[in-house]
Amino acid sequence: MKDGLETILTRRSIRSFTNEPLDEATIKSLLHAGMSAPSAHNRRPFHFITILDETTRLALKNKSMFAKMLDEAPLVIAVCGDKVRQPIHDFLIEDCSAATENILLAAHALDLGAVWIGVYTLTGWQKFIINTLELPKNILPIALIAIGHPKQTRKDRERFEDDKWHHEKW
Ligand SMILES: Cc1cc2nc3c(=O)[nH]c(=O)nc-3n(C[C@H](O)[C@H](O)[C@H](O)COP(=O)(O)O)c2cc1C
Repeated sequence: MKDGLETILTRRSIRSFTNEPLDEATIKSLLHAGMSAPSAHNRRPFHFITILDETTRLALKNKSMFAKMLDEAPLVIAVCGDKVRQPIHDFLIEDCSAATENILLAAHALDLGAVWIGVYTLTGWQKFIINTLELPKNILPIALIAIGHPKQTRKDRERFEDDKWHHEKW
């Protein structure tokens, strides 16, 4: 397994996967990483739906031009937020985003590939996910993550930018 900083610095989005399934222990490790994210007021409003069913993955893929990898990925995780547990919308998005990034990093640490698929509020795409996954009224989908054994390799890039480092004041 890679160490923490190496994992962060070398992660890339992977959009092509082999059809090798992921075992239950691996899926649990990914969810454990998601559930270990920080959250505002420690409300931990995140929920995770694991989607292995090919018909569901295909339906989701066909609904968004940015989600073409969903049928190939053996696992899709829908990261959802509970609006009752965290009523401040910005915090709900931030908490679920932290959980999403944790899962991306855990996948990379385990030599899997993964990509974040955005779900923004009040769009047809979000409504489609709500209906397809039969989410209750208080649960919002915040992100989908396609995960699998990578069929592509992507080089990590140097991304340190001096002009993004501001000293003391802007
Ligand atoms: C909020 C968010 C939404 C994203 N949505 C999509 C998406 O819908 N489809 C996709 O292929 N990649 C998506 N990405 C992945 C970005 O395209 C990717 O992170 C970016 O191009 C940088 O590449 P890297 O992840 O390899 O560093 C999303 C990333 C974020 C953070």
